[in-house]
Amino acid sequence: MKPGDIDLSDPDVFSDGFPHQYFAMLRNEDPVSWNESRFVAERHEVPQRGFWSVTRHADLIYVSRHPELFSSAMGGVQMHDVAESTLESVRSMLLSMDPPDHMEYRRLVNRGFTPKMVRQLEPRIRAAATEVIDRVIDRREVEFVGGVAMHLPMLLICELMGVPAEDQQMIFDWSNRMVALDDPDYQDHSTSREELAARVWLYSSKLAARKRAEPDDTLMSRYANGEVDGEATTEIQLNNFFVLLAIAGNETTRNATSHTVCLMDTHREQWDLLLSDIDGYLPGAIDEVLRFEPPVYHFRRTATEDTELGGVTVRRGEKVVMWYPSANRDDAVWDNPDEFDITRDSSAHLTFGIGEHFCLGANLARMQLDCILKEVAHRLPDIHLTGPMSRIRSNLVAGIKSMPVAW
Ligand code: HEM
Repeated sequence: MKPGDIDLSDPDVFSDGFPHQYFAMLRNEDPVSWNESRFVAERHEVPQRGFWSVTRHADLIYVSRHPELFSSAMGGVQMHDVAESTLESVRSMLLSMDPPDHMEYRRLVNRGFTPKMVRQLEPRIRAAATEVIDRVIDRREVEFVGGVAMHLPMLLICELMGVPAEDQQMIFDWSNRMVALDDPDYQDHSTSREELAARVWLYSSKLAARKRAEPDDTLMSRYANGEVDGEATTEIQLNNFFVLLAIAGNETTRNATSHTVCLMDTHREQWDLLLSDIDGYLPGAIDEVLRFEPPVYHFRRTATEDTELGGVTVRRGEKVVMWYPSANRDDAVWDNPDEFDITRDSSAHLTFGIGEHFCLGANLARMQLDCILKEVAHRLPDIHLTGPMSRIRSNLVAGIKSMPVAW
């Protein structure tokens, strides 16, 4: 195997999970390596260009911390190229903004995510986690994603956004469809992608209108009633904020929850260790799961000028793709990085990104994981997988569709 042998734009390369062996080779031999894009999908609006893969921890930090060289806005943060007309809309999403605009918009909502705010939510999250397990405990077996992992993230993000309870399942289905673009199981519906986008737009517009008429403490209300440079946030910005939160809030934490149970199943000695002192080991275990199995595989930047990176020259306009799971296995940072060890210090992982766009929901995600995993550990200590998990077809997220478990 040599660099270039595998096309990382192809989602099928990730069908058994992240190809760690290939990335270990890239980190050693070609840490910023060129990848021709050969994967073609019907959803692609324009021909796809090749990209640079950033695989080492230090280089990923460098790219994330230099938005003036590596832009989120120029080409968006997704690997695939889109038409210029689509980019105009993409750029109105917080995730795809550059300084100085980015910080101005982030300021509208970051108070909703501070550690203090998350601590205030803690009793609510703990109670909800208890209810999730109450609902399944007597069944003794369940499909874990649908029965356990999905509920807390969905409930929380909908409450924070101000989405009424009766609409939560619909938001969940939409977010699945929007993130699993290459998975036919999520795309083969009676509605086209355009129809879906229109429905989401209509829904978020109505929600924003309600929040403007009756402001409250929810994130949608803060964004809808916020101003940047004296200008109110626009419809398109609000819609994109809604989409970002629906996806970021739902998909990531759900998959981290499922991955924890899966990893503990294959590393029983680590699970037993955790059970021996749940309060003591859980915070470290959560960070180690996040290091070992990041729910997000990559985000992209675009070079704003010719620049050196990890020994290569990246030309203006070229795509740079940062692979988080690879950075998290860099042996320059961790000894035996392929070993899953809940006692190690994993805190340098880059699973939540770093720099300008560092995940706004990181505190909230950690709190949710703490609550649900504590419930699982205390009340379902002998939980185990009873069959194989099924993965989402994607090179963007480490998504788990289903995972049968029993206890
Ligand atoms: C384990 C769970 C999560 C993971 C692994 C994760 C991962 C990430 C990453 C890697 C970024 C950085 C993107 C970049 O640099 O381009 C990010 C940004 C973001 N995340 Fe998360 N996320 C998680 C949970 C959440 C939750 C629960 C929420 C919302 C409640 C959230 C909201 C956001 C938002 C709004 C941004 C954009 C921040 C900005 O552009 O300034 N995330 N996330």
